[in-house]
Amino acid sequence: MESYVNNSDFFKGNNPEDLVAQYGSPLYVYNEEILRTHMDAVAKVITKYPYTANYSIKANSNLHILKLALEEGNNCDAMGIGEMSMLLAAGFPTDRIFFVSNNVSAEELQFAIDHNIMTSLDSLCQLELFGTLNPGGKCAVRINPGVGAGHHDKVITAGKKTKFGIAEEDIDQIFEIAKKYNLTIAGINQHIGSLFMDPEPYLKAVTNLLRIAMRFENLEFIDFGGGYGIPYHKLDDEAEYNMEDFKKRLEPILDKFVEEYGSAPLFKSEPGRYCVAEGCVILGRVQSVKQNAGKKYVGTDIGMNVLVRPSMYDSWHDVEVLRDGKVVPRTDLEEVTVTGNICESGDLLAKDRMLPKMQRGDLACVLDAGAYGYSMASPYNSRPRPAEVMIQKDGSVKLIRRRETVEDLLRYMQEV
Ligand code: LLP
Repeated sequence: MESYVNNSDFFKGNNPEDLVAQYGSPLYVYNEEILRTHMDAVAKVITKYPYTANYSIKANSNLHILKLALEEGNNCDAMGIGEMSMLLAAGFPTDRIFFVSNNVSAEELQFAIDHNIMTSLDSLCQLELFGTLNPGGKCAVRINPGVGAGHHDKVITAGKKTKFGIAEEDIDQIFEIAKKYNLTIAGINQHIGSLFMDPEPYLKAVTNLLRIAMRFENLEFIDFGGGYGIPYHKLDDEAEYNMEDFKKRLEPILDKFVEEYGSAPLFKSEPGRYCVAEGCVILGRVQSVKQNAGKKYVGTDIGMNVLVRPSMYDSWHDVEVLRDGKVVPRTDLEEVTVTGNICESGDLLAKDRMLPKMQRGDLACVLDAGAYGYSMASPYNSRPRPAEVMIQKDGSVKLIRRRETVEDLLRYMQEV
């Protein structure tokens, strides 16, 4: 496609230059309609059986985005006290929160117990800890289904090489610990990794988890995890994740299980990226254009502190060039490397890209930044984090997080 922001009418008539003038550069810009569409789509992955999609808020925990998930009927998963507290602040009732814990302290487990938040334990050791804190209680356990998938080794969370989950050979010990503390294992969950476009490994993991589920009696829920991908190469016409095909292939696997198990527990999934990635772009100013050893570098204010994914995983994010608030057509292209303003050579936003000729004063518009964008941003180099704004359905612009200031950064420090 020639331009995502034009095709999707992303800014709904707002001039990106005006947004940056008002809220500063760089700037996270969300589109409410796109976010809602994706949240609604994940809520309908399974229609034949009881089902909820748990939006995985590590992808983006801005309260205003959590509010959209609440309204779209998504439940949510949380990784710790911080994320549970965000969800409570957004208005989620505790029975719509699932604490998917990993190596957590007794204090974090106690927080969930006190708030009556269903918790999944990720190891026998943590199950034992939960038992000592909450004898007679209810919980879930995270199983490693033996199959992983993801866009990078760093985000594959099941299979042979991972810290996550309880291995199939240890399941008898789950029952022993449950008996010792009179625990009810109400659910089992898995998450095989992040970002797959081919659903095959996920379906294999679902099949494995359901085979393992046969060993658990009276399960109230089974959670298959997240990971559905989005097309990061959309300007090169990469196809979307085929939800319809996925649903068609998932259903017979569930049918077989429900028949053998004798009842249908509540099925769950945990999508993060799919819900929020495409509903956000980052606008950033081109501050400098230069040549170094025959290579052209375009220097922007979108550093690895603002979006770390390219530096951390070599992730691809499409970039559009805006001049005077309008998309520059992709006709007269040249190879450039787009960088940030951070003191590291790895601060590369887009390496060796064919982009329209850029000049100082242009805006770079980075696509698909809604997932693991702001949530992984940092004030590295003591650069305050950007503001976030939401283009609402009616086209009006709402500030959903103000820009951090240097005073904010100083606030945590003891006086010298
Ligand atoms: N459930 C659990 C237990 C998870 O650990 C994750 C992601 C999800 C659900 C949601 O996965 P998703 O649907 O978003 O793929 N920072 C990396 C991604 C790390 C994902 C960590 N866990 C990135 O920027 O690609």
